Amino acid sequence: MKFDTPATTNPIDQLKIVGKPVDRIDGPLKTTGTAPYAYERHDALEGVAYGYVVGSAIAKGRIKAMDLGRARAAPGVLTVVTAQTAGKLGKGDNNTARLLGGPEIEHYHQAVAVVVAETFEQARAAAALIKIDYERAKGTFDLASAKDGAPPAKDNPDTAVGDFDTAFAAAPVKLDEAYTTPDQAHAMMEPHASIAAWKGDKLTLWTSNQMIAWSRGDVAKTLGIPKDDVRLVSPYIGGGFGGKLFVRADAILAALGAKATGRPVKIALPRPLMFNNTTHRPATIQRIRIGATQDGRITAIGHESWSGDLPGGGPETATQQTRLLYAGANRMTKMKLAVLDLPEGNAMRAPGEAPGLMALEVAIDELAEKLGMDPVELRVLNDTQVDPEKPGRPFSQRRLVECLRTGADRFGWNRRQARPGQVRDGRWLVGMGVAAAFRNNMVMKSAARVRLETSGQITVETDMTDIGTGSYTIIAQTAAEMMGVPLHRVTVKLGDSTFPVSAGSGGQWGGNSSTAGVYAACVKLREAAATKLGFDPTVAEFSDGQVKAGGRNAPLAQAATEAPLVVEDAMEYGDLTKTHQQSTFGGHFVEVGVDAATAEIRIRRMLAVCAAGRILNPKSARSQVIGAMTMGAGAALMEELAVDKRLGFFVNHDLAGYEVPVHADIPHQEVVFLDETDPMSSPMKAKGVGELGICGVAAAVANAVYNATGVRVRDYPVTLDKLLDGMPTLA
Ligand code: MOS
Repeated sequence: MKFDTPATTNPIDQLKIVGKPVDRIDGPLKTTGTAPYAYERHDALEGVAYGYVVGSAIAKGRIKAMDLGRARAAPGVLTVVTAQTAGKLGKGDNNTARLLGGPEIEHYHQAVAVVVAETFEQARAAAALIKIDYERAKGTFDLASAKDGAPPAKDNPDTAVGDFDTAFAAAPVKLDEAYTTPDQAHAMMEPHASIAAWKGDKLTLWTSNQMIAWSRGDVAKTLGIPKDDVRLVSPYIGGGFGGKLFVRADAILAALGAKATGRPVKIALPRPLMFNNTTHRPATIQRIRIGATQDGRITAIGHESWSGDLPGGGPETATQQTRLLYAGANRMTKMKLAVLDLPEGNAMRAPGEAPGLMALEVAIDELAEKLGMDPVELRVLNDTQVDPEKPGRPFSQRRLVECLRTGADRFGWNRRQARPGQVRDGRWLVGMGVAAAFRNNMVMKSAARVRLETSGQITVETDMTDIGTGSYTIIAQTAAEMMGVPLHRVTVKLGDSTFPVSAGSGGQWGGNSSTAGVYAACVKLREAAATKLGFDPTVAEFSDGQVKAGGRNAPLAQAATEAPLVVEDAMEYGDLTKTHQQSTFGGHFVEVGVDAATAEIRIRRMLAVCAAGRILNPKSARSQVIGAMTMGAGAALMEELAVDKRLGFFVNHDLAGYEVPVHADIPHQEVVFLDETDPMSSPMKAKGVGELGICGVAAAVANAVYNATGVRVRDYPVTLDKLLDGMPTLA
């Protein structure tokens, strides 16, 4: 089915099941600990062996010599696989560095060996006996010093409209500031983990992965085998945040270990290895210049961003939102990419917008102060209903102003004191901050198979993943609504490469795109069932387990009395994303307290108002947004991979040193969804929320800290050491 005209009324609009805050259908499996995660497929495997990955102890250079003798002779050891023994390996389309390094080393903790043994403890003990002589090469590890002379990031063209330089020079009110965001880790709960088993030339990988089809292709490419010989199974995933978009070392090394031993092999990357072995969100340095009239109209807006990655990698696209968020006739964005020999940078929740808004939305707060304007009003004044780089191109829906107004109202924004450092509550200096939220809405082709079983049950099969987001539930709601059956009559099977290829979980496109694919398949199943029962399929209605038309009705189950009815279809997209800019919007409001003596920061309240098309399940969507707000609080106040600039690695590579928020850090969160449908996005009229929720949060926190204290921090995270010198003197 092709989606190339705006959606009209369709069965989803009945909203009997879609749009309802139903509980997660996978909830009982999760809460009883019986959902089998990748490392836990004990059922399928006789004689499984354990792999332990050894990471490089240098960031750049080569292995001169490797002594594997003692490891190979250690108790229980079955094999040690290195680049030398593995044979020729390729590289996946989505990997920058090789997943098994040596003799050349590209980054710290790049895998250089895997020890396979009878038990995990034996594999780990033997790994410690491997002796490696390295020859260290000089690397580049510091973005601040590598940024000068960094070339434009390829595939991400600079943009320019009007004459930025002239307009900025002439503007009566100007802002010109630099902001930095640090390297960040996904730090999902479940580590990267895989079990590999070969049957002849056929490989099955039970793995924790967001994008089954991409990763299946990359496994095949890396191992040099046909894609058809690879099966990926990933039904339950303990968080991804972008870190599991791609195949990683656990999967490839498990496959190599299993091949070498003739046994199934399981590998989980140890937590202290994950931070340098896998991907991270790259640090940025951003310069923002905004020129405005005295009454607050933006006349010039420029955003430049520098980030770094390994050779062949890509930039953190932090200027993305600045191309679309505010009006202004003269504009420019530039992205530069330095070569850094740190671990591989890549996507983390809302890549681009998340760190981009950390800078832009503080800049807007600073501009509001220069203008003597309320920061909500400044944003409202500079709203645009068309793509400001392509004025002929409207937004499909854009209710940023309503998000900000609704939020201001609900939050009690009128109690905010414009002058910072004015509000005391006992030992706390109290402040409020606001930021706009913006994230693009992408749509991706997505396929599904649906079956009407002889039992009358509906089964949905698609390789879509559920990374903790609620995919199982919204897919079941979609199929139940379309087929007119209660939710419990639908069985959803996900995350298996033998199922039709879905959009996968990435870029907040999964919810809308995967359900749209299920919608397409269900349209076909309705036609097949109606025809089988002798109804005109163009007018047949499906409800209460019945098919109805022309004053007659018949049980849906009767369409499959002898054999199941099985159909498959995909939703594909035409040009609507070209004619209309599709984005999601929100407003974040935060109140903080800062200890007047110690500068300790506490978040007191958070509110998000989101406009993101139809909300398919308000309960799971709310969970997505409060999780994202929590992650935004971490970005604001805690998260930073500390770079060792001499040796080139992330020093705090475990969950003791890489701090993320816990419940006690987040006392009160509220989420409001504006009631909207977007007929341009898909027949579901839905969009993404999972990434929108993090976009702007950190800036709202930083702006609240400024409002509380009068200290402006432009280098994240905002920690108390950066506030102390500037704190108001105690009365
Ligand atoms: Mo998202 S960073 O595309 O999983």
